[in-house]
Amino acid sequence: MPQPEQPNSRRAARLAAEASATAPAHRATADRAVASRRRFAFALGRRGVVAVVAVLAVGLIALVVALARPGGESTLPDGTAPAAANPTDAVTLPGGSGAAAGATALPVPAQSGPAAASCDSSAVTSALASGSDADVIAAFGGGAAFRATVAAGAAPCIDLGDPHRVWIVVDKRRPLNPVDFEPAEVVAPANIQRTVDGRLQPPAAEALTALVAAAADEGAGAIGLNSAYRSYASQTRTYNGYVNSLGRAEADRQSARPGYSEHQTGLATDVAACDGGCGAIESFGGTRQGAWTAANAWRFGFIIRYEDGYTAVTGYQAEPWHLRYVGVELAKAYHEGGFHTLEDFFGLPAAPDY
Ligand code: DAL
Ligand code: ZN
Repeated sequence: MPQPEQPNSRRAARLAAEASATAPAHRATADRAVASRRRFAFALGRRGVVAVVAVLAVGLIALVVALARPGGESTLPDGTAPAAANPTDAVTLPGGSGAAAGATALPVPAQSGPAAASCDSSAVTSALASGSDADVIAAFGGGAAFRATVAAGAAPCIDLGDPHRVWIVVDKRRPLNPVDFEPAEVVAPANIQRTVDGRLQPPAAEALTALVAAAADEGAGAIGLNSAYRSYASQTRTYNGYVNSLGRAEADRQSARPGYSEHQTGLATDVAACDGGCGAIESFGGTRQGAWTAANAWRFGFIIRYEDGYTAVTGYQAEPWHLRYVGVELAKAYHEGGFHTLEDFFGLPAAPDY
């Protein structure tokens, strides 16, 4: 039997009772929501204050650091300071033109400072006229400034092909001019064991004597001279010997064609370790003399011209025994700038082949 519909009065009373029973729960929910909103607003306000303080602190620190940095020197991405401290060194850094595997081109640091001396300056002009390479380099502001100016193409008075200058660059793309060039004077370095009658231009000979003496004094052992100046004719014999025994392709990795060898300038020498008798030049790199020379040759004006890993730039396999005299100022700039080839040093193209 269907239930009779409840009378309106009873229904209203039940609804009123239900409403009365649920009211405290609604109030509690509403109270929690209000409390939550208040806590959120409070937290938001506190975090906002913290964020503002943090931003201000960071800005203050950045300002202090910027003011404390002398000359606005830049820092390289690896966190190290640019190798060249001279303000004029902002042109070409190691690897700039190098195609060598593993050679990394570093970004050019933004540096400011006084402009480098140029070919227009009277100091440079008179130094060039004097014939003193050292005076010319000094007139440009030193080895690093000289290098940077030349590499930037801003020194038209400096001919990197002049065989009478210590900054001559000879490679497979830069033959000697004239091709049968002979230095004015070559002399035998004093106080050095030698396996041949090796001679060098006088400044290079004196420097090699000093290097050999220092190596002995500093406990690296005896270094001897294996080969030095080679005329066009003598380089022809040397190169042909390599071709006959190794074939032309391998010969070109180990020996320069006549007219293309640094030995013909009288500024290059091959050295050997001479513990007892002198060893082969090919074993020099693995000796204590070789390690000492790699680290210290620059102090005497020499660079290791053909380093391991740079065949793509030089065209030659590694020759840790082949020292090229460039003078102390340029060797120091080469060493301190972290260079590995003369091509990169002077911003020249790689010379992997003829
Ligand atoms: N061995 C070097 C590359 C020369 O012959 O000049
Ligand atoms: Zn050599």
